[in-house]
Amino acid sequence: MNSESMKLHRTEFGQPANTGNVIPEREAFELVEDWVKNEKLIVHMRQVGHLMRQYAASVGLSEQDQYRWFLAGFLHDADWEKWPETHCRKIIEELENRSLDPEIIRAIASHSPRYFGVEPVSQMDKMLYAFDELSGFVHAYSLMRPNGYEGMEVKGVKKRLKDKTFAAQVSREDLVDASQRAGIGMEDLIRFVIDHQANALL
Ligand SMILES: [Fe+2]
Ligand SMILES: [Fe+2]
Repeated sequence: MNSESMKLHRTEFGQPANTGNVIPEREAFELVEDWVKNEKLIVHMRQVGHLMRQYAASVGLSEQDQYRWFLAGFLHDADWEKWPETHCRKIIEELENRSLDPEIIRAIASHSPRYFGVEPVSQMDKMLYAFDELSGFVHAYSLMRPNGYEGMEVKGVKKRLKDKTFAAQVSREDLVDASQRAGIGMEDLIRFVIDHQANALL
């Protein structure tokens, strides 16, 4: 993947007049069903959506906000399978056409600053960036453990992080960068993912 061609070259997303606009959960699931066939990718989006919702709840945001956070997490990779070369562009356009809340679209646009060239600014942006890769990493670890998430410990995840051959595609630098930008230590982030991710698919 050529990271230069993936740059969005934009800083504004959606329309301020659409602030607070969401689509119903059914519509979001239909969009994902239409665009994504890869079960693993669907699992990833559901997990990140769940983590986002749970995190918003944990810092006392309203139910409406929790749902907005969920949408950002759930939809962030919706275009990845069909349009890998222009990943992020297509979902942004689609959500702009559906008049979605600009904050949700912006969070999606900044979920990988290295690729898309959009800096995470809001708390929603930063947490999506922080959870995205870490969620996949912890899930990969759960799949190689006999009991999955049961009894998983932070130190086990940290050990895998040091092993560069494990889930090698996950950039350790990005994980550290995301944790610093979120202002949350890596151990706390890992703890949060372990505690919430096991229930993401229920
Ligand atoms: Fe992505
Ligand atoms: Fe992702």
